[in-house]
Amino acid sequence: MMNVRALIISLLLCECCVVMGWLPDDPQSADSSDLMARSAWAQQLSLSLLPAYSLAPDPPVDPNICLQLLHEFANNSADLSNCLASMAWPVRVCQHCYREYAQLITTMEKIGNPIQNSSTISCATTLLRSDRVHVIVALKDFFDDVWTDSKCSSCLDSNNTSVLNSTAEFMKSFDDLIQCFNVTKGSAFPNQHANFSKVCQLCKTSYKKLNEQYTELEHNNSLCIDIEDAMNSTRSLWSGLFNCTLPCTDTVPVIAVSAFILFLPVVFYLSSFLHSEQKKRKLIIAKRLKTSNASLTHILDKSN
Ligand SMILES: *[C@@H]1O[C@H](CO)[C@@H](O)[C@H](O)[C@H]1NC(C)=O
Ligand SMILES: *[C@@H]1O[C@H](CO)[C@@H](O)[C@H](O)[C@H]1NC(C)=O
Ligand SMILES: *[C@@H]1O[C@H](CO)[C@@H](O)[C@H](O)[C@H]1NC(C)=O
Ligand SMILES: *[C@@H]1O[C@H](CO)[C@@H](O)[C@H](O)[C@H]1NC(C)=O
Ligand SMILES: *[C@@H]1O[C@H](CO)[C@@H](O)[C@H](O)[C@H]1NC(C)=O
Ligand SMILES: *[C@@H]1O[C@H](CO)[C@@H](O)[C@H](O)[C@H]1NC(C)=O
Ligand SMILES: *[C@@H]1O[C@H](CO)[C@@H](O)[C@H](O)[C@H]1NC(C)=O
Ligand SMILES: *[C@@H]1O[C@H](CO)[C@@H](O)[C@H](O)[C@H]1NC(C)=O
Ligand SMILES: *[C@@H]1O[C@H](CO)[C@@H](O)[C@H](O)[C@H]1NC(C)=O
Ligand SMILES: *[C@@H]1O[C@H](CO)[C@@H](O)[C@H](O)[C@H]1NC(C)=O
Repeated sequence: MMNVRALIISLLLCECCVVMGWLPDDPQSADSSDLMARSAWAQQLSLSLLPAYSLAPDPPVDPNICLQLLHEFANNSADLSNCLASMAWPVRVCQHCYREYAQLITTMEKIGNPIQNSSTISCATTLLRSDRVHVIVALKDFFDDVWTDSKCSSCLDSNNTSVLNSTAEFMKSFDDLIQCFNVTKGSAFPNQHANFSKVCQLCKTSYKKLNEQYTELEHNNSLCIDIEDAMNSTRSLWSGLFNCTLPCTDTVPVIAVSAFILFLPVVFYLSSFLHSEQKKRKLIIAKRLKTSNASLTHILDKSN
C-alpha cells in the first residue's frame, strides 16, 4: 500500500516538474524546433506515465504505434470521403462505400483497443481525448451520421460485408427500366413537347415491376438511400417528364373499399336489429322460466 502511495506522489511531483518547466518559457522566444522536441518529449512522458496508474507496471508505450494508427485513420477517412462524394449523384453510397466505411470502423476499434497484451492503455487517450476539439471523434461522428441517415445497413447483410441480393435485384430492374426509357424515348428527348406515349406503353411492365419490388422492400424494412433515390427519380421521370399514368388496376381496390365503407351503416342497422330481436326472444324465455320456477317453488313449498 505504501509503495503505491509513494509511487503516485512521486508521479504527481514529476508532472509538476514538467508543467513548471514548461510554463515560464515564452513560446515566441523559444526556438520552434526546440519547442516541438519538448512537446514530443512531454507527450511521450505523459504517455509512459499513464500505465503507472494501474497497479501492474507496464513497459512504456511506443508513440509511433499511435502515429501509425493516426495515419491509417487519415487514409481511411480520405478514402471514405472520396467514395461518398463521388457516389453522391446518382446516389450509390451504400452499394459502393461499405468497404471503406468498414475499414474506418476497424481502424477506430484498433485505436480503442489496448496497445499491448497485458496493458490497459490504448491510443484513444492520446488520439481521441487529448485536444479540445476532438478532431478524430468529430470526423468519425460525421461519417456515422451520414451512414445512419442513409440507412445503409438495411441494404447490407448482417456482417456489413456484402450488398443484399434484394438490393442488387432492385438495382437491376432499375437499370432495365432506365434502359427502356432511353431506347424508347429515342431522339425525342431534346424536344420538351415530345410525344412520350410510346414510353408509357412500352415501359409500363418494367415500371410496374419496379414499383412492386419497391413495395416489398419497404415492407421488409430493406430501404436505403440508394433504393429510395432510384425510385424517387424514376417516379419523377414517369409522371413528370413522360407524363405517364399507371393503368386503372389501382382503382379496383379503391372501389371495393369504398363499397365496403358505404355498406357499413346497413350492416350496422341490420345487426343491431337482429340483436334486439334475439334479446326480445331471450327476455320472453326468461320470463317463462321465471313463472315456471315460481310455480315449481310454490309446489315444493306446498309438499313440505
Ligand atoms: C494510404 O493508402 C495508400 C493507397 O491508398 C497507400 O499507398 C499508403 O501507404 C497508405 N498509407 C498508410 C499510412 O496506410
Ligand atoms: C499476447 O497474449 C497471448 C496469449 O494471451 C500470447 O499468445 C501472445 O504471444 C501475446 N503477444 C504479445 C505481443 O505479447
Ligand atoms: C458473419 O460473420 C461470421 C463470422 O465471420 C460468419 O460466421 C457468418 O456466416 C457471417 N454472416 C454472413 C451473413 O455473412
Ligand atoms: C453493421 O452496421 C450497423 C450500422 O452501422 C451496425 O449497427 C451493426 O452493428 C453492424 N454489424 C456488424 C456485424 O458489425
Ligand atoms: C445471392 O445471390 C448469389 C449469386 O447470385 C447466390 O449465390 C446467393 O445464394 C444468394 N443469396 C441469397 C441469400 O439468396
Ligand atoms: C442512352 O442511349 C444513347 C443512344 O441512344 C446512348 O448513347 C447512351 O449511352 C444511353 N444511356 C444509357 C444510360 O443507357
Ligand atoms: C402521341 O402519339 C400517339 C401515337 O404514337 C398518338 O396516338 C397520340 O394521339 C399522340 N398524342 C399527342 C398528344 O400528340
Ligand atoms: C421479404 O421478407 C419475406 C419474409 O421474410 C421473404 O420471403 C421475401 O423474400 C423478402 N423479400 C425481399 C425482396 O427481400
Ligand atoms: C424526391 O425528389 C425530390 C426532387 O426531385 C426531392 O425534393 C424529394 O425530397 C425526394 N424525396 C425523397 C423521399 O427522396
Ligand atoms: C399530361 O397529360 C394530361 C392528359 O393525360 C394533359 O392534360 C397534361 O397537359 C399533360 N401535361 C404535360 C406537362 O404534358
